[in-house]
Amino acid sequence: MANGKDFISLHDFSADDIEEFLEFAKKLKSAYQAGGYTPNILKGKTLGMIFEKSSTRTRVSFEVGMYQLGGSALFLSSKDLQLGRGEPIKDTARVLSRYLNGIMIRTFGHERILELAEHSTIPIINGLSDLLHPCQVLTDLLTIREYKGKHFRNLKMAYVGDGNNMANSYLYGAAKVGMALTVATPQNYKPNAEVVANALEDAKKTGAELILTEDPIEAVKHADIVATDTWASMGQEAEHDERKKIFAPYQVNAALMQHANKGAIVLHCLPAYRGEEITEEIFELHAEEIFDEAENRLHAQKSILATLL
Ligand code: CP
Ligand code: NVA
Repeated sequence: MANGKDFISLHDFSADDIEEFLEFAKKLKSAYQAGGYTPNILKGKTLGMIFEKSSTRTRVSFEVGMYQLGGSALFLSSKDLQLGRGEPIKDTARVLSRYLNGIMIRTFGHERILELAEHSTIPIINGLSDLLHPCQVLTDLLTIREYKGKHFRNLKMAYVGDGNNMANSYLYGAAKVGMALTVATPQNYKPNAEVVANALEDAKKTGAELILTEDPIEAVKHADIVATDTWASMGQEAEHDERKKIFAPYQVNAALMQHANKGAIVLHCLPAYRGEEITEEIFELHAEEIFDEAENRLHAQKSILATLL
């Protein structure tokens, strides 16, 4: 895979590219677990990390990942950058391209990332936008592979909840690797229509069965993997109470999990809101998988960094 490419959406990559990212992540994880560091891979390289939204996992895993690969990372809060005072993205892009070897950005509108990429001469990594969260879904594919094997085409996944950035990225990811995915959301909270159309197009090539429904039981029936996410994403705080009522039938709880396959795993990108999208009982029953998933952010992103930078 060519260096210098951006990592903005899984839709931009081929199934082989995704397989390469996952295979490399697996190798980096084994090396890390064996106590072996790989400090020569990105020696002398610097990643800038622009945050316009909060983060625990993304910030820490990217920063530690750069360190483990021999490079360094700069935390750039938009509150402190001139970007936060109105300096244009295109100027920020051209300045930062002179200092850095790559930029990870977490922001609101997806078009901000596209604009940054258009005016940068260095790779841009999407650390979450309102539309997509590709680093998390690559991580989830790594986690699924560890628990269920690499034959994604034999697996069925269910996503239950809000048709948000996670749902959109799961659609792109599943379509590329050929995994069956059913997304259950309330009627007015479906995944992005353009993403759905693109994913269905990709799915034609891999045979992935992608289904959208309003019925959480239909989604979870015979699923090997059940995933959910917060009902109110960053930026939607004011809608929280209203959403809590609308999404109540979409809670991942023991009754819903009864419809999944025996041995089904549960994934949650975190942070989790117990008693809302997932019960305490189901969360703790599946904590092993969920925290493996959180750890895998580090390994999957090291694979992205080492490939792109
Ligand atoms: N899952 C995830 O992206 O977590 P953070 O918001 O803590 O980075
Ligand atoms: N959908 C959530 C994911 C958080 C990691 C959000 O955008 O807030």
